Amino acid sequence: MIRQGSAEDIPKIEEINKVVFGEPCGIAGRAGSRKDFRVSVAEENGRILGYVCGHERKGKYYLWMGCVLPEARNKGIGTALLKHQMNVAVKAGYTRVFAKSSNKWKPMMRLLLKMGFDVIGYKAREWGDEAAVWFEKVLQEG
Ligand SMILES: CC(C)(COP(=O)(O)OP(=O)(O)OC[C@H]1O[C@@H](n2cnc3c(N)ncnc32)[C@H](O)[C@@H]1OP(=O)(O)O)[C@@H](O)C(=O)NCCC(=O)NCCS
Repeated sequence: MIRQGSAEDIPKIEEINKVVFGEPCGIAGRAGSRKDFRVSVAEENGRILGYVCGHERKGKYYLWMGCVLPEARNKGIGTALLKHQMNVAVKAGYTRVFAKSSNKWKPMMRLLLKMGFDVIGYKAREWGDEAAVWFEKVLQEG
């Protein structure tokens, strides 16, 4: 089941981040400090399997972070989470959605391209030595 997440889900999301990224990734800080922070979660039998979250950035909806636990991948959960977040963004009035990824996260880049995102930029050393590829899509409900 994909649903809108709440503050109660944040500690569980931090645990997922520790598994996938090796650290909590500042989710609690951003969720607590931004009123426009929104998160979609995938849940099965009370267990969160993955999430995608975002907020406003320069007039666009910025898909900031997301992941699915390794054992739950390749079943369509990542796709469903992205769609859910994009519908949340449409309902909040956004017309464009923006995301960043990198060579380290190729499955996410494949997913964004499959879902109709365009590559709009590249920035060397966006995260330390790591470069970022920037993606954007015009939003449509559905
Ligand atoms: C990117 C990520 C969220 C994708 O999650 P996911 O749940 O595996 O995504 P999906 O299942 O929707 O799609 C993944 C693949 O499975 C395929 N798939 C979807 N449903 C499927 C099904 N029922 N049967 C077989 N394959 C399926 C998709 O077509 C896609 O194929 P591709 O890799 O060839 O493009 C996940 O890989 C992840 O957490 N990666 C590490 C963290 C990360 O990269 N975060 C983003 C940082 S920018």
